[in-house]
Amino acid sequence: MRIKRLECTGFRNLAPLSIEPSAEINVIYGENAQGKTNLLESVWMCSGMKSFRGAKDTELKSFDRESAKVRAGYSDSKRENTIEIRIAERRTAYLNGIALPSAAGLIGKFRAVVFSPAFLSIVQSGPAERRRFIDAAICQLKPAYAQKLADYSRLLKQRNSLLKDLQMETALLDMLDVIDLQMSALAADITTQRFDYLSMLTPHAAEIYNGLSGGRETLRFRYVQKCGEPGGDYEDIFKANRKTDAMLKTTTAGPHRDDIEICVNDRSARLYGSQGQQRSCALTMKLAESSVIKAQTGEEPVTLLDDVMSELDAGRQDYILNHIKNRQVFITCCDPNAVLRLTEGKRFFIQNGQVECT
Ligand SMILES: Nc1ncnc2c1ncn2[C@@H]1O[C@H](COP(=O)(O)OP(=O)(O)O)[C@@H](O)[C@H]1O
Ligand SMILES: [Mg+2]
Repeated sequence: MRIKRLECTGFRNLAPLSIEPSAEINVIYGENAQGKTNLLESVWMCSGMKSFRGAKDTELKSFDRESAKVRAGYSDSKRENTIEIRIAERRTAYLNGIALPSAAGLIGKFRAVVFSPAFLSIVQSGPAERRRFIDAAICQLKPAYAQKLADYSRLLKQRNSLLKDLQMETALLDMLDVIDLQMSALAADITTQRFDYLSMLTPHAAEIYNGLSGGRETLRFRYVQKCGEPGGDYEDIFKANRKTDAMLKTTTAGPHRDDIEICVNDRSARLYGSQGQQRSCALTMKLAESSVIKAQTGEEPVTLLDDVMSELDAGRQDYILNHIKNRQVFITCCDPNAVLRLTEGKRFFIQNGQVECT
């Protein structure tokens, strides 16, 4: 997917703008608080998702305006399209001039992936962040997976509350049997889908990380199950854990406890990685996520990279600017020197919300 023209009015601090981005890389540079992230956010809103900054729709309008509008002309593998998003009291969206029932109707029509500094937590934080990443990535490709996750977490809640009452009423054991049976089928399915996703992600990630590190480092993922042997039967696992679970009053094993270890040169990036390596891992995962979407749907998402350049050495910056091919990238940075490394594409200077192609 490629944005050919982007127009905004009344969006955050951006002055009314109309730009024709490059089909490859677009560098948006300027000092702090000039509107760089706002510009990425305007593109992101075309994906039909909520703001990646967690903003409410009404916060997207300029302080002094009643409404905001984003218009994007873009091409996918089949045709040229236009998206228009209007934000007033609520957000409404139009695809090729036709009003959609809600902005979420754009999901899957225009695809984007975004890397923002907050995404570093994928490497630095606990396992929940990594499960969220993989689950969200699978949901994008297979909407039915979302229902399975929801069913699993509903059963998990029931099981945990049952465990709390178990000591009083042993009659509840029958109910536990029923829950374990239902949960084990879902657990097996969720785990299999995560394994499958990781095996799709891995070759793309390995190649990107190899390029980013100039061939000096390797990136690998390891799915870590908090129970017996991988692929073991979950009904047996839940049964075997009952005593411990009843004592701790919680379900101690299952996909809700699993983790994905991210390894640089076969060592945990979370424990041993430098800032630059951790950033490289997180960035690689986003770029690889986009490659998987391309492989599965035939459409390459537009890639939005907010503030990735800091803490990357010149070689890594050069790779991002000049070697990430075959996708449209919008990347923000403060350092005008980084822009000098750009050999193709376009650059946009932004000052006080005014965007200028330089
Ligand atoms: N709804 C809004 N209306 C007008 N200005 C806004 C709005 N939301 C944020 N801003 C302003 O945008 C600026 C930050 O823009 P941002 O894109 O985050 O900067 P950066 O260039 O550092 O990425 C701040 O000055 C902020 O006050
Ligand atoms: Mg910013």
